[in-house]
Amino acid sequence: MSYIEFMDLRRQYQTHKEGIQKALSKVCEDAAFSGGKYAEQFEKEFAAYQGARFATGVSNGTDALHLAMRALGITAGDEVIVPANTFIASAWGAVYTNAKPVFVDCANDTWQIDVSLVESAITEKTKAVIGVHLYGQPFDVDALKSITDKYKLFLIEDCAQAHGAEYKGKRLGALADAGSFSFYPGKNLGAYGEAGMTLSNSEELIKHINALKNHGSYIRYYHDEVGYNNRLDGIQAAILSYKLQFLNAWTERRGEIAKMYFSGITNKHIIMQKQPGFASSCFHLFVIETPDRNDFTTYLNDNKIGYGIHYPVPCHLQKAFAHLGYKPGDLPVSEYHSTHCLSLPMFPELTNEEVERVIDVCNKYRRS
Ligand SMILES: Cc1ncc(COP(=O)(O)O)c(C=O)c1O
Repeated sequence: MSYIEFMDLRRQYQTHKEGIQKALSKVCEDAAFSGGKYAEQFEKEFAAYQGARFATGVSNGTDALHLAMRALGITAGDEVIVPANTFIASAWGAVYTNAKPVFVDCANDTWQIDVSLVESAITEKTKAVIGVHLYGQPFDVDALKSITDKYKLFLIEDCAQAHGAEYKGKRLGALADAGSFSFYPGKNLGAYGEAGMTLSNSEELIKHINALKNHGSYIRYYHDEVGYNNRLDGIQAAILSYKLQFLNAWTERRGEIAKMYFSGITNKHIIMQKQPGFASSCFHLFVIETPDRNDFTTYLNDNKIGYGIHYPVPCHLQKAFAHLGYKPGDLPVSEYHSTHCLSLPMFPELTNEEVERVIDVCNKYRRS
């Protein structure tokens, strides 16, 4: 019985070796390593793909969030609302501007931010809300936007896991003030290293981020404000441009695998993520809940099936945020999810036989 990996990036490389190597050699021949023409080309292509007017490529998804927050003017003394159930980087952008993250619980069926709790987290200091399209499934943008509009707050989409996903038929990233993407290698559109991008329909915002990522400079060697070196690497951009042409097919395949899981897994001990009608997920992850995770993961190990845990500790209980004073029990749905969730194998190159084996193993599980 061979091991089924939770994710295997080597298979994709084997199929696309030639295209990737060509992309690499073009950048080397043109010496367009930092920013430059391949970065600009990918910015245009990805903005068009996602349906945004403007884009700025940066060094990774965390920096994409940070620079968006900074360009929006978030600063010390401000509060930013962030879902507790997400990867911690969703909160870093706010933290890096010296604003305070205020965590909100998730809903117990979609595991996305519970929009009904957002209003009560707003104070006079609140400046922005970060919505996360978690696991590749869009959150309810209109519902959250009606709150941010009412209180005149910025809404930033964290799209790090949601390339190609759709909300009410539209791709993500420019549905609110700004949207940030990660191209970390394991993402649905992954680089061969680190890369990220911020999208927006505001040209002014994107121009500001362009300056911030470039040492605070609009004109070379003239620095208008404190800036950063957060440019997009040419090699990553060229690889991403090459890979973008396959993203629709990969998303479709992830959808097929998800469909097989949804219809095939019938074990009552396995709860799957609710798919609201407005959301067309790109299934970055296929997350489930099970009553006794240790027991279930031991069983998966015995059956040679890989899994991931996204995430074992909700943001508000991370040590890094101990100074904020949250305690266990404060955000119970996220806390329950963090101790009961796990992610089944999900990547486009999984074969149907492998998916069927995962389904069969899940269905034969009995709690010991
Ligand atoms: C939800 C979410 N936000 C932000 C990030 C940060 O992206 P990066 O790892 O490219 O900095 C990630 C990815 O790791 C993520 O999953």
